[in-house]
Order: sequence, then structure tokens, then C-alpha cells
Amino acid sequence: MVVEEIKTLILGADGMLGHDLQKVFPDAVSRGRDLDITDEAAISAFIRELSPDLVINAAAYTDVDGCEDNRETAFEVNGNALEYIAKACSKVGAVLVHYSTDYIFDGSKEAYVESDAPDPINVYGESKLLGEKNIMESMDDYRIIRTSWLFGVHGKNFVETMLRLSGEMDIVRVVNDQFGKPTYTADLARKTAEIVGLAPGIYHITNGGVCSWYEFAAAIIDNVYPCSSEEFVRKANRPMYSVLVNTKTSPMRHWRDALKEYLNIRGNGEN
Ligand SMILES: NC(=O)c1ccc[n+]([C@@H]2O[C@H](COP(=O)([O-])OP(=O)(O)OC[C@H]3O[C@@H](n4cnc5c(N)ncnc54)[C@H](OP(=O)(O)O)[C@@H]3O)[C@@H](O)[C@H]2O)c1
Repeated sequence: MVVEEIKTLILGADGMLGHDLQKVFPDAVSRGRDLDITDEAAISAFIRELSPDLVINAAAYTDVDGCEDNRETAFEVNGNALEYIAKACSKVGAVLVHYSTDYIFDGSKEAYVESDAPDPINVYGESKLLGEKNIMESMDDYRIIRTSWLFGVHGKNFVETMLRLSGEMDIVRVVNDQFGKPTYTADLARKTAEIVGLAPGIYHITNGGVCSWYEFAAAIIDNVYPCSSEEFVRKANRPMYSVLVNTKTSPMRHWRDALKEYLNIRGNGEN
């Protein structure tokens, strides 16, 4: 499939990744909150009438702690809506690209390949896993891209939180016992265009390099101090290791290089 020649629909276009997808797919029809993915009738009618070749869904309920309190919304947005989208795609013969998460794994292994068995330990992970299952049961021509620890110019993210806290506090404490792979949304959006042309299935796509949240923070700010997850209790459980291993396609650059670009763009006020 030649990306420039296909009719593309981006859902969740107002989100952090959605913004970067719009740059990679400039001719795409983009919909944000104005098209509620949990409204089955609206989603079905929109996809039927547009009849796209490719649908990229970047809409999700991504507040991991919020999902614990709002279980029903989490399952509706991250789970059931994927059945509506996948069925509509199947009817018009569209490829569906959807994003899932490292949090579908329990973190008891140091690294996860695409075929490893999921076992989520929080509501966000459970709801995202339901989304994956609904897609796989409803259509054949899908690409499920599992990714992790996203940062991008157009959204609330860990890098911005660290920069803010660094100015507000003498010492910022960050957990040093949860490990993962930070991923720059601009890189992920570019890689998405490549994955559209690959075989249907599940892909693990992140920037290169593994770190703890503390190590990630230390690359952003100076006044950071390591602590344990026990000292920094959150509403949702988080996996200790959620390292996604990509066995299917070429690797992306190291997260430190991507972070440098992000900080430059941010510093220059570009977007
Ligand atoms: N962020 C991460 O660290 C991370 C890690 C792994 C995987 N992922 C996955 O990567 C994808 C992109 O994440 P992101 O960080 O770019 O997310 P994001 O910035 O939170 O964007 C998600 C967008 O979806 C919208 N949305 C929520 N409910 C909707 C609904 N019912 N109908 C239509 N739109 C709705 C949100 O609108 P509102 O803002 O108005 O709610 C937001 O604009 C998601 O699938 C996410 O699960 C993210």
C-alpha cells in the first residue's frame, strides 16, 4: 500500500500521538473528540460513508490511575469501542492500525516479545487488552502496535511533568525500580507509516534503550533523587519490567537521541 495514495482516517487526532500522525499523514481525514468512538452508530456510519482504505485509531482513555476509578469508561473507550471500529473497518475493507500498551503485561519478565501471554495488573491494561481481543475477533487486516512511555510535543507527558516539578521542588523523587522504554510520538508516527505496509499482526514498537523512570528523569532534570515504588504509592499497580522487544521490524533510534530532539523542538517553540 503506498501511503500517499490511500484514503486515511485518523481517530483521536487531538491527542499527543494523534497530532504527530496528522503530520505523517497530511491528507488524512482527522477526527478528534467530535467523533466519539464509543458511539457505535456514529462510528459505523462515519466509516461506511467515508469508506477509507486505512483507519488509524489513536483515541484512548490513557489516564492509568483514572481508569481504576472509572472502570466503565476505560472498558468502553479502550475495549468495546474497538469492536465497533474493527467491524466497521471490516465492512469497508479498511486496514486498522491501533495502539496498545506495555501495561497488558504483568512485568514479571524482564522483556516481552509479541507472542508472550498478556496478564495485566491494572484496569488500564485490562481494558487495552480487551481492545486487542475485540480487534482480532472482528477482522483480519489489523496492525496492533504495542508501545510504551510516550512523550510528544502535543500532550501531557512525563518529560513536561519533570520539567514542571523541577522548578517547583528542591528535590524530585522518582521511582528507580520500574523499567521500560521511553518512546517519542514523532518517531512512532513515522514508524506507523512503515507498519501499514507490513503483514497483519501485533508489533512491539518503542525507541531503543531500557531505563527506569528515575534514569529517564535524570536525563531531563538535575534535581532528581531515586526512590522505590513502595515509597511512591499510586492508585494503579504498575509492572516492574515492561520492556517490549521488537522482533518483526527495524529498530528505532535510542530514546536519548529522541529526547534531545524533543527538548530542542520544545526549546525553539516549534511544533
Ligand atoms: N501515553 C502513553 O504513555 C502510552 C503508553 C503506551 C500506549 N499508549 C497508547 O498510545 C495511544 C496514544 O496515546 P496518547 O498518549 O497519544 O493519548 P492521549 O494524548 O491521551 O490522546 C487520546 C485522545 O483520545 C481522545 N478520546 C478519549 N476518549 C475518546 C472517545 N470516547 N472518543 C474519541 N476520542 C476520545 C482524548 O480526548 P480527551 O483528551 O478530550 O479525553 C485524546 O485526545 C493510545 O492508544 C494509548 O493507549 C500510550
